[in-house]
Amino acid sequence: MSGGKGAQPTDEELAGMSREELVTLGLKEDDVELAYRRERWPVQGTKAEKRAERSVAAWFALAGIASLAFVGIYLFWPWEYEPLGSDRNLMYTLYTPLLGLTMGLGILGLGVGVIAYAKKFIPDETAVQQRHMGGSPELDKKTTVALLQDSADTVGIGRRSLIKRSLGFGAGALGLMAIMPLGGLIKNPWKGGPDAALWTTGWTPANNETIYLRRSTGRSHDVELIRSEDLAAGGIETVFPFRESERGDDEALSAALRRSDNPVMLIRLRPEDAAKVVKRSGQEDFNYGAYYAYSKICTHAGCPASLYETQSNRLLCPCHQSQFDMLTYAKPIFGPAARALPQLPITVDDRGYLIAKGNFIESVGPAFWERKS
Ligand code: FES
Repeated sequence: MSGGKGAQPTDEELAGMSREELVTLGLKEDDVELAYRRERWPVQGTKAEKRAERSVAAWFALAGIASLAFVGIYLFWPWEYEPLGSDRNLMYTLYTPLLGLTMGLGILGLGVGVIAYAKKFIPDETAVQQRHMGGSPELDKKTTVALLQDSADTVGIGRRSLIKRSLGFGAGALGLMAIMPLGGLIKNPWKGGPDAALWTTGWTPANNETIYLRRSTGRSHDVELIRSEDLAAGGIETVFPFRESERGDDEALSAALRRSDNPVMLIRLRPEDAAKVVKRSGQEDFNYGAYYAYSKICTHAGCPASLYETQSNRLLCPCHQSQFDMLTYAKPIFGPAARALPQLPITVDDRGYLIAKGNFIESVGPAFWERKS
């Protein structure tokens, strides 16, 4: 706001003015002309007004109930994977749609409630204001505060306790719904000591069981193991860990495919390339002949990196174009990734199946503070 029109009131006059007078003065000073104004409810307390109040409150109540339902479902609904055909598969399948439905209703309820309130209770008015340049003098600041207070009274929320309470309920529950999912991010990554999620993968040996390299066929219950002659020279395949104890266990077989640090790229180098390989110190026996196995999880930000160019023996991560040299222990040679892809030690068993000799010797995926290489 800036300089107004007509005579300016003195400081004493200004101090003695009521809020209404200040509002009128402020409008005049701002060159605002109230072209049209109609009260929605000139007679207060009518049945129609109460009805309108209840309909707005109902929307806010819907927002609150739906948001609380979201919180309840988020906390208590069985969300863990249940294989197709099991009794609980339906409950598991409904988890995400129900979250979406309740969240949608919560937001819709609050949004429609606010719009309905504006349409039913805020006076219908048209005001025209001229634009001004520069900062606001003291007079403008005082009249602006008066205008804001007047607007709050005009909106009338203060005296509509049903709407006020239902709005508080709806908005409060919606806020709770919004922050609730953050709880899932609060985890102690070191919980479990050496068995903590950050230190283990599906390739971590357990119970002296052999861990085979398993091909992904697109069907979670399939078990196709890989023999050393299965890959052509220059070929690449994504493989996952498999233990005999998992055979027939759909849940375990599916979990092995879904665990984010399990995917490994098995590469069979061409003989002329295999002769040029530079091995990393401490990993000299991690390969089996021309077969090399590296984590598929990019060390930059965790994307699956598996665009392999046989001619140059480079592996490209499609997310930010990091390139890894597969002839130099998957060392990054271009792009933002700063660390080599972890190598999985492999060999074959007495039947010729490729197996893991152990886990990765460094953490998989984006670098984190404990990683030394
Ligand atoms: S995630 Fe691979 S380059 Fe960024």
